[in-house]
Amino acid sequence: MGINMNTKVKIAGVEFKNPVMTASGTFGSGMEYAEFVDLNRLGAVVTKGVANVPWEGNPVPRVAEVYGGMLNAIGLQNPGVDVLIERDIPFLQQYDTKIIVNVCGKTVEDYLEVVEKLGDTAADMLEINVSCPNVKEGAIAFGQKADCLYDITSEIKKKAKQPVIMKLSPNVTDITEMAKAAEAAGADALSMINTITGMKIDIHKRKFVLANQTGGLSGPAIKPVAVRMVYQASRAVKIPVIGMGGIACAEDAIEFLMAGASAIAVGAMNFVNPCVTMEIAEGIEDYMRKYEIESIGDLKMDLP
Ligand SMILES: Cc1cc2nc3c(=O)[nH]c(=O)nc-3n(C[C@H](O)[C@H](O)[C@H](O)COP(=O)(O)O)c2cc1C
Repeated sequence: MGINMNTKVKIAGVEFKNPVMTASGTFGSGMEYAEFVDLNRLGAVVTKGVANVPWEGNPVPRVAEVYGGMLNAIGLQNPGVDVLIERDIPFLQQYDTKIIVNVCGKTVEDYLEVVEKLGDTAADMLEINVSCPNVKEGAIAFGQKADCLYDITSEIKKKAKQPVIMKLSPNVTDITEMAKAAEAAGADALSMINTITGMKIDIHKRKFVLANQTGGLSGPAIKPVAVRMVYQASRAVKIPVIGMGGIACAEDAIEFLMAGASAIAVGAMNFVNPCVTMEIAEGIEDYMRKYEIESIGDLKMDLP
């Protein structure tokens, strides 16, 4: 006799079979991973950030290994929204998983163009990246000033046909201020954290390792910062929070769910173990069985 376990979660009216998602930019649109991962086992695939037109990204080198993670300064290279609509969304529609399209831009108009084009597609939700530290113009500015975040969120909400997730930057003084601004402007959910700005110097060449000088730190090194921010933000707002940052195993994912996340996403660790998302989905089920926890919501701790 087992318990009556249910791993489903609902975010802004969209039902996910489990709380495990891929973090944008670390899983493409799933094509390269479909050989290793049964995409039907995932709550959602979150696609790489897409803009209104193709972007080349930053010059190389644009990734570097560091203790406990990696630095990246890809600069949101992407083929543009038209390619995503013609090629990637139909690919993902073959699977029984939800599709979350991550959107980037340099100006508010760029974002709005993408959001409008996605309106009539099978995308289930939109995740708006206002937190990329590697793009010079726009982008992160929207995510670092509460009034800019409020404005872009309300503009997007006017045009979006799907529920909107605002992806917040950890490179701020007070994450609750940003979370509240996005909520007040009508965001349906939040996701956090994006990468933390870092730097690496090659002491023998006496040069920056990344051509961009700085890059975004991701991987296990950032997990405690992410857990703290998810905890703070999920208590500051009523809308659901999708947690990410350094998740490497089911135990890490459960920690985020306890801290207040309604779902979680896995990023850099996909590069270490392409099967990690599936293993995490299974590990969460094992944990629920072991402790006789019936629903994902019951994992949330009653923390002060
Ligand atoms: C190579 C790489 C590319 C990324 N590209 C995007 C992106 O296009 N859009 C976005 O919102 N976040 C992007 N991110 C951030 C991740 O989605 C995630 O928020 C962050 O890496 C923290 O999670 P992790 O520690 O599990 O990787 C990228 C991260 C990496 C490592």
